[in-house]
Amino acid sequence: MPAMNQSACGKAILLGEHAVVHGEGAIAIPLSNKRVKVHVEPKILAPDSKIHVIAPDLDINQELSDLPKQNPIFQAVRLTLSELNITQTPSCKLLVTSTLAFSSGLGSSAALAVATTKALSEFLGHPLPVETVNRIAYECETYIHGNPSGIDNTVVSYEKPLYFQKSQGFEFLHPGGTFNFVLADSGTSKSTQESVASVAQQLVERPMEGQAILTQIGQVVEQGKQAFLDGDTKTLAIAMNHNQQLLAALELSSPGLDQLIKTAREAGALAAKLTGGGRGGHMLALVEDSKLPLVYESLQQASSDRAFIAIVRNQG
Ligand code: PMV
Repeated sequence: MPAMNQSACGKAILLGEHAVVHGEGAIAIPLSNKRVKVHVEPKILAPDSKIHVIAPDLDINQELSDLPKQNPIFQAVRLTLSELNITQTPSCKLLVTSTLAFSSGLGSSAALAVATTKALSEFLGHPLPVETVNRIAYECETYIHGNPSGIDNTVVSYEKPLYFQKSQGFEFLHPGGTFNFVLADSGTSKSTQESVASVAQQLVERPMEGQAILTQIGQVVEQGKQAFLDGDTKTLAIAMNHNQQLLAALELSSPGLDQLIKTAREAGALAAKLTGGGRGGHMLALVEDSKLPLVYESLQQASSDRAFIAIVRNQG
């Protein structure tokens, strides 16, 4: 059984995080240059069904069976074996490396689940179709987030920009122009499960106000979707900035994120907002070509070198 390598990208939500959990639409793009990589190789002399996991970025170097049940690698292996009806696995080693930051709004748990499912199923000689990989990754997400919308596993599985709505499924979005984004890490990692729970709590404590904000986010997403399709950077920027105000009204921003957003706007970004779970993690800025070097440099400085550029291209 030869060794196998697979990988999965990270993702950024352009518009609609959190509201998407409550049924509104949202738009996400893949981050193809930030990836989780999984290498699987046989361990010839080890007893059967022993899977050893090494993931230096996650401080993991142990048997799979000793990982916590909420670990995406654990769940992805379990669900992949169950999908393939395999009870006795050949012993193997899983090496997980990443250029994607963990727990910071970029879909790392979905990327871990997708990369593990693809690598293991191929290693076992039964590569799974993307629809199945997506379904398994969604199920993994339920163990980690509790109540995921499904947008993260979908964009990471298909690696294309898309519009997602829980009740309708998803549609791929073909950008009508080229959009430049700069992302930067506020340095504080926060649990998505907690931030999703905090929104649910607000809907209990102030239902009218909370629901009104989610509905407005839904409207902003529709406006942004049309702008994305039209290649209309200015209107997309208005939607992103408005979305940030609404997310802040749900207490999902943080002083670190606010500082990065201010830095981006002062350096000339057309828009800046948090992305993903919020209360820490990454921010996302939309930037015209001429301002890209300055915005990138300013965010690099403000985030201790944790900024990067992602470009969504109009494929013509
Ligand atoms: O922080 P991340 O990368 O896990 O993204 C979470 C996105 C949410 O909309 C807040 C949750 C979800 O399941 O859609």
